[in-house]
Amino acid sequence: MASTEVHHVPRCTCEGRKSVEDDLAEDSTRTCQARTEDASGLETTTTTTAVSRNYRPRGSLARVLFDKQKADERLEAYDKRQWYTVDTSKIRDDLLKLWVPLGAGPYRDQPDKAAEIFLMRSSERSDSLPLQAWHSLARSALSWFISRTSINGLLGRGSMHVFSCEQFEKLMEASGFKGPWGSLVDLGAGDGATTTHVAHLFERVYATDISPPMRWALSKRKFTVLDVEKWHEEAGPFDVILCLNLLDRCDRPNTLLRQFRTSLTPGGRLVVALVLPFSPYVEVGERGDHKPSEYLPVKGNGLEGQIAGLVDRVFAPLGLKCLAWSKLPYLCEGDLGQAYYFLDDVLFVLEAVPDVAYNYEEKNETSEKVRSQEGPV
Ligand SMILES: C[S@@+](CC[C@H](N)C(=O)[O-])C[C@H]1O[C@@H](n2cnc3c(N)ncnc32)[C@H](O)[C@@H]1O
Repeated sequence: MASTEVHHVPRCTCEGRKSVEDDLAEDSTRTCQARTEDASGLETTTTTTAVSRNYRPRGSLARVLFDKQKADERLEAYDKRQWYTVDTSKIRDDLLKLWVPLGAGPYRDQPDKAAEIFLMRSSERSDSLPLQAWHSLARSALSWFISRTSINGLLGRGSMHVFSCEQFEKLMEASGFKGPWGSLVDLGAGDGATTTHVAHLFERVYATDISPPMRWALSKRKFTVLDVEKWHEEAGPFDVILCLNLLDRCDRPNTLLRQFRTSLTPGGRLVVALVLPFSPYVEVGERGDHKPSEYLPVKGNGLEGQIAGLVDRVFAPLGLKCLAWSKLPYLCEGDLGQAYYFLDDVLFVLEAVPDVAYNYEEKNETSEKVRSQEGPV
């Protein structure tokens, strides 16, 4: 089944199927040609009957495995350069200057070692039938009582990967961070997988999460777990605050954003990661319809347009200045559907503008909207 070894996925040279019925026709004798490269890079052409392309097993387990194999082949063939690049023609000049490429390889557009390891482990786990069968059973039973995040925390599954230590250090350096590397807080840290990559750089590491199993996972990793509401009072100010993939998953993102400016030490940095295009979804919120209670005004067309929208309309009015930004894949462990999942994640490194240069009342364009529940969420 799926493997992250680099191998060449055959590129079919004939027309695709027309319908699902066609796909299921097992007796077709149409032929097609597939070009493959051998280990030496030589291209060979093989002719196969349509049976191999059309075949779809009838038993449900066999069908699941067959579909997974197809999905994994599509993942293998996906051009991963797209993970680390943006359409620069759609980015403003002042923002382009702050771009930090975080991919590996000569063109800095390939997964680095940590991402490769994550993908390999994820592939292996997704291929383990007993493990996936257990997860699937437990998930359907537990989903009546607790959130998906808490189920993942309990089962120790669904781990995510944002950045490696090297990528984080590169971002911090590009933002001109001079230290000290005293305290770090990771808000909405999940199981703490990403926190673990950078924890050794700091003297004190704090974390929060709203899900009890995730809090348990965080304390098992020896991070000091703070209250989700009072984290800034309990241990701040912090040299570095991580807010990774939380603004679109928490109920009151504006309240959280307003706490950042005063929770950073002078010269401290806030690192925000956000999946774009913006699509908020709250597992357990006040409204009960999975929409956030507070509207975050993320405007702009597509991923590139929303980057400028966030910098100008969300961060700047709250006295948070963007010093560097980048784009990475937000990787999630796979299951019987496919080896892993990914989303486009944009990272921003921000600093708090000093008091003298910042007047909250004058500059906060979003203040009227902060508590609004009417916005297009
Ligand atoms: C998408 S996950 C991100 C996990 C991790 N930061 C990452 O980037 O992989 C969002 C996490 O935020 C947590 N969460 C949601 N609302 C929160 C809140 N108000 N305070 C702290 N954590 C929250 C969820 O339980 C979940 O673990």
